[in-house]
Amino acid sequence: MQPGNKIRKLLEEMTLEDKARQLTQINALYIKPTAKAEVTGVSDDMRLSDDDIRGVGSVLNFGDAEDAQFVRATHLENSHSKIPLLMMQDVIHGYRTIFPVPLALGCSFDTQLVEECAHMSAVEAKYNGVDVTFSPMVDLARDARWGRVMETTGEDPFLNGEMGKAFIRGYKRGGVECCVKHFAAYGAPEGGREYNTTDISERNLREYYLRSYAECLKEKPAMVMTSFNLLNGIPVNGRSDLLLGYLRGELGFDGVVISDYGAVREMIPHGYAEDERECARIAANNCIDIEMMSSTYIHNLPDLVRGGEVSAEKLNGMVARVLALKQKLGLFENPYNATDAEKAAEVCLCEEHRAIARRAAIKSCVLLKNDGVLPLGAQCKSVFVGPYADSKDILGGWACAGRKSEAATIAEGVKNLLGRSVTAVKGCDVGLLSTDESGIDEAVSAAAEADVIVACIGEPADCSGEASSRADISIPRVQVKLLERLSALGKPIVAVVFGGRPQVLTVVEKLCSAILYAWQPGTEGGNAIASLLYGQSNPSGKLTMSFPRSVGQCPIYYNSFSTGRPKGEDILSNCCYNSSYRDELNSPLYPFGYGLSYTRFEYSALTLSSPVMRRGEEVEAGVTVSNVGDCDGEETVQLYIRDLFASVVRPVKELKGFKKIALRAGESAVVTFKIDESTLAFYTADGVLAAERGKFIIMAGGSSQNVLSAELRLED
Ligand code: GLC
Repeated sequence: MQPGNKIRKLLEEMTLEDKARQLTQINALYIKPTAKAEVTGVSDDMRLSDDDIRGVGSVLNFGDAEDAQFVRATHLENSHSKIPLLMMQDVIHGYRTIFPVPLALGCSFDTQLVEECAHMSAVEAKYNGVDVTFSPMVDLARDARWGRVMETTGEDPFLNGEMGKAFIRGYKRGGVECCVKHFAAYGAPEGGREYNTTDISERNLREYYLRSYAECLKEKPAMVMTSFNLLNGIPVNGRSDLLLGYLRGELGFDGVVISDYGAVREMIPHGYAEDERECARIAANNCIDIEMMSSTYIHNLPDLVRGGEVSAEKLNGMVARVLALKQKLGLFENPYNATDAEKAAEVCLCEEHRAIARRAAIKSCVLLKNDGVLPLGAQCKSVFVGPYADSKDILGGWACAGRKSEAATIAEGVKNLLGRSVTAVKGCDVGLLSTDESGIDEAVSAAAEADVIVACIGEPADCSGEASSRADISIPRVQVKLLERLSALGKPIVAVVFGGRPQVLTVVEKLCSAILYAWQPGTEGGNAIASLLYGQSNPSGKLTMSFPRSVGQCPIYYNSFSTGRPKGEDILSNCCYNSSYRDELNSPLYPFGYGLSYTRFEYSALTLSSPVMRRGEEVEAGVTVSNVGDCDGEETVQLYIRDLFASVVRPVKELKGFKKIALRAGESAVVTFKIDESTLAFYTADGVLAAERGKFIIMAGGSSQNVLSAELRLED
C-alpha cells in the first residue's frame, strides 16, 4: 500500500519511539481513571511513562460519549504528534439497546435482521465515540462447554460466514468500522476449557475453521484480531505462515491486524518467547500492527529496528496501516469523529431500536418442545416460577453499555401484553452451585393455583462469555429440584430456558410439556417472550448449535464424519463394534437446524433441474414447503449436501444454503437453490479448493435431521 503524502510526511516526522507508541492500544482508564468503562483492569506490568500514555495510537473500553470526548481531547492536548486516537469498544450484540447474544441471533437464520441489529448498534456506538468495534466474532464453535460459544453463531462455517458478513454490512452502514475475530481457531480449545490448547489438523483448520474469516474479508472489515490460543504447537501470534502467508498473502488482507488483550506478551507464558523483546520481534515481523494491552513494542521496538531485527520498512508499513485507517475514518480532519452526547441520548433505547431488539429476540428464541400447551390463552391462569421469572439479568455477557435495569423481565412482559400482573415466585437462586431449597415450597404452593406453570430457569448470565467455560452444562441442580417438585403437581409445565450456550435439557424434556429456549434475549427479552408464550408471535428460531443429551457427547456437531463403523439405528444397545457409547445415544437431544413453530410445515417434491451437472454448469434444486397448520408462520428451509466419496472424507451433511419464508396457514411455496461447483467444492487431497466428480446427495428440509434427498452426479 503506498501511503498518501500526509502519511508519508508523518512517518518522516515520527521518531521510532512515536511509532512504537502509535502501535500500542491501552485501556482508556490510563487517560481517564474514572471512565465509565467496564473495568477490565489495567495490567500493572505495562510500565508506561507519561510520554508513552500521551503517545499511544488507540484506546479501548473508554465508556460513553462524555468519556470519549474527554479522552480524545486530553490525548490531543498532551500528545506532541497530534495524531488523533482510534477509539475501540466491544459492541458485540448492541451498544445500549441490547439485542440477543450472537448465538441466539444466528438462530433467526435472518441475515437482514442481523444487519439491521448491527446497524442499530453502530448508530448508538458512533455517537458514543466508537470508531471501531471488536466484532464480529466468527470463530467456529463445536463445544458447548466453552463459554464463548455465546458470541459465535455456532457450528457451521457457511452460516458463520454469512452472519459475519451481515454484521459487517450493518456496522459499516451505521458508521462504525469493525474487527473480525479471533484469528484463528480460538473456538476449538481442548475440553472446551477457555484459553486452552487448540490442536487440530492443518486440513481441518483450513477446511472448517478458517472459512468464516476468509468469507468475512469479502466485506472489507478494517481489522482482524489475532487470538490467544496455541495453534498446533505455536501461539497464533507467532504463526507467520498464517499471519503473513495466509491472511496477508493468500487472502490479500491489507488492513490492520490487532492482537487480543495482552496476547503478544502471552507468548512468554506459552513457552514460545523468552522475554518481551522476543515477543516484540516475533509480533512485529508477523505484522501485528497494534499490540493491545501489553507494552513489548513500546519497550523494545525502537532497539529492534536500530539493531535491524525488525526492518524500518516493516515498521513503517505497520504504522502506515494504522494511520491510513485513521485517515479513512476522517479523524485527521475531525478527531472526535461522530462523538455527540446529545445525539447519543436521542438514539439510545429509542422506540425504533427497542422494536428492532424485540423483533430480534422473538426471532431468536427456539421452540424445542410443545405438546400443544403453547400458545397460552390470555385467560389461562399461569404462574411464573424460577430464578428468571422476574429477572432483569437477561442481557448476557458483553452487554457493552446495556443496563440490566432497562431490561423487561418476563413478568413485566406478560403484564405489558395482557394488561394485568402475574404471579412470579423465584423458588430458588440461579447460582450454578446453589443448594438453597428454602424457597421451593413457596413456589410450589403458588403453582398449585395455576392451570399452567411457566418455569423460568437456566444458567447464570455470567456463566457464558469469556473465561466462563463449564465442565457440566446441565441445568443447575437446585432448579431441577424445583422442576421435580412442580412436576409432582401434575399440571403442564412450560420451561422458558435462559443461557448463552446449549445446555443439557434431558431432564427438562422429561418433566415439561413445552420448552422455549430464550438464550439471553436482551433489553426487550421479557416482552418478546410474552409475545411468543401467548401466541401474538409464532416462534421461528432454528438451532445453530447441537444440544447434547449429556456433556459427555461434547464436542457434538451435525457436520461430522461417518467413521468406518457408523452406528445404524440410534438406540442404546450392548457392545456392537460400531462408533457409539454404551451409555448414551450418538444423536443430540436437539440437532442443528431444528426448531418448532405453532404451525406445521411439510416438505415435498425435492427436484433437481438435472440429475447430472457438468463442469461449469449449475443445477437448480426446488422443494415444496406447505404450511399445513392453522396459523401463519415462518420457516427456514435448509439446503445440505453430502459428497459420498472424495479424495478427503467429507461430512455426512454440510449446510450450503438457507432461506427463511413466511407462509400463511394452508399456503405452499416452491423454494429453490442454485447448486454449482462452488457449492460442492472442498480442499481436496492436493490442497486445492475444488469439486471432485462423483455422486452427491442433495438434501432440503426444516432441520439437519429431517430432510428430503435427491442424487446428483458431477461429471467432468
Ligand atoms: C478480550 C476478548 C476480545 C475483546 C478484547 C477487548 O479479552 O478476547 O474478544 O475484543 O479482549 O475487550
